[in-house]
Amino acid sequence: MAAQDKTPALSNHSPMDNGSAEFVYDRADHAAAWTDSYVFHQLIPYIGNKRKLLGLIKQAISQTSVMPPATFLDLFAGSGVVSRMAKQMGFHVLANDWEPYAQTINGCYIGNNTPLPFTELGGYENAIATLNRLPPREDWITRHLCPASDDHYDIRRDRLFYTRANGMKMDAMRSQIELWRDQGHIDAEEEACLLAPLLYQACYVSNTSGVFKGFHNGWGGQTGTALYRILSQLTLSPAVFHDNGQANAVSRQDALALARQLRDQRAAIDIAYLDPPYNQHPYASNYHVLNTLTLWDHPILTEKIQGRNKAAIREDWRTGRRSAYNYRGEAERAYVALMQALDARFILTSYSTDGMIALPKLLEICLRRGHTEYVLQVYKRYRVSTQRFSVKPVNVEFVLIVDTTRPHTGPDASELTQRILLAEADAVSRAARRGQPCRAAPTPVDLSPKQ
Ligand SMILES: C[S@@+](CC[C@H](N)C(=O)[O-])C[C@H]1O[C@@H](n2cnc3c(N)ncnc32)[C@H](O)[C@@H]1O
Repeated sequence: MAAQDKTPALSNHSPMDNGSAEFVYDRADHAAAWTDSYVFHQLIPYIGNKRKLLGLIKQAISQTSVMPPATFLDLFAGSGVVSRMAKQMGFHVLANDWEPYAQTINGCYIGNNTPLPFTELGGYENAIATLNRLPPREDWITRHLCPASDDHYDIRRDRLFYTRANGMKMDAMRSQIELWRDQGHIDAEEEACLLAPLLYQACYVSNTSGVFKGFHNGWGGQTGTALYRILSQLTLSPAVFHDNGQANAVSRQDALALARQLRDQRAAIDIAYLDPPYNQHPYASNYHVLNTLTLWDHPILTEKIQGRNKAAIREDWRTGRRSAYNYRGEAERAYVALMQALDARFILTSYSTDGMIALPKLLEICLRRGHTEYVLQVYKRYRVSTQRFSVKPVNVEFVLIVDTTRPHTGPDASELTQRILLAEADAVSRAARRGQPCRAAPTPVDLSPKQ
């Protein structure tokens, strides 16, 4: 059924009604460190992740009427949470992101339906247990990212990304995984299933507030927050798997290159989901430690802080992973090219009113590609510091739903822009009446375009 025809019915239903409840993030139940829910288990803290917007995305998927086991392509998969939801829904999932850590994490969680045999290491759980028992050892992480002593450090010279104790555990584990791989005891898929829990732990015990562009001056910073995790002893837990019976696949490509390749191969893509970066923050710099752990290529950097390299961000990745979507002058062109190249029945785009591409432009591009609708949700804005209140405490996150099989009918780009901005203005004034900081709406507000 055409997406447009479904709109009136959906406007009377909250996404909870169409079975989204299992994907609604609940802080108490879904903490990545201990939940056994496949979708949220060991999910890395990630800027722009859609953990709290899964209900909205599921609503957008429902609006297409495409049913599993159709093919769902997640072109900017990041933490992988949307791919995990699509996998759990039963879709045949193709998860792509050009960052090495994303490929590894998704290789584990999306690429495998069941634990791999780890025949030479006595099974998956045994391999993880062996890593947890290793004696600590000093290697790249300890030398570059940890202080000489956990109790007596010099904040002008020492990097404090990790306690030395945890840095040495990470070094021991990472070196062992490499050795197992070199000696042929594990293959690439098994390696990903060991690295994914290590990458999660590398986030969990880090002395940062989530990104690796800096670290706290002292454990937990001035307020000593999150010491329970920063000073905890790094221990790996096995990944949780979900078998959806599909041959799901993971890749590490530039989104445009992959879109062109799939088009040339005439791959049948039913839904392509686009969640490109929408602000200036480059993922390669923010998560450089995860890339170094994944690649284990010992980048050349000074061991101690010297000059401007306090955060030890690798130079190659600063320039090598420059995304057009991080730049106001380039994002629009990149999106146009991607929309043209993509051969998919439906193209879903998550974006925000704060994004690099102006809303009317974004809508124009979509309307040119096919019949366009949207669903949106009021969302608390991302703030690096809880001390710094943003001017606008909420914005709207929306998903544009483009049906590429038919031309657009209905409101034009400027009318749709007005509707989205109006919804946002309304949310901001409601938040102001409630006082800051305000909370995200617990369930998506369905403001599908009224016909
Ligand atoms: C907003 S995040 C995606 C978040 C993801 N949906 C989630 O829920 O975790 C954007 C992602 O796009 C990736 N990226 C940026 N430019 C890219 C490109 N040209 N090709 C492929 N991936 C890209 C980044 O590495 C980042 O993971």
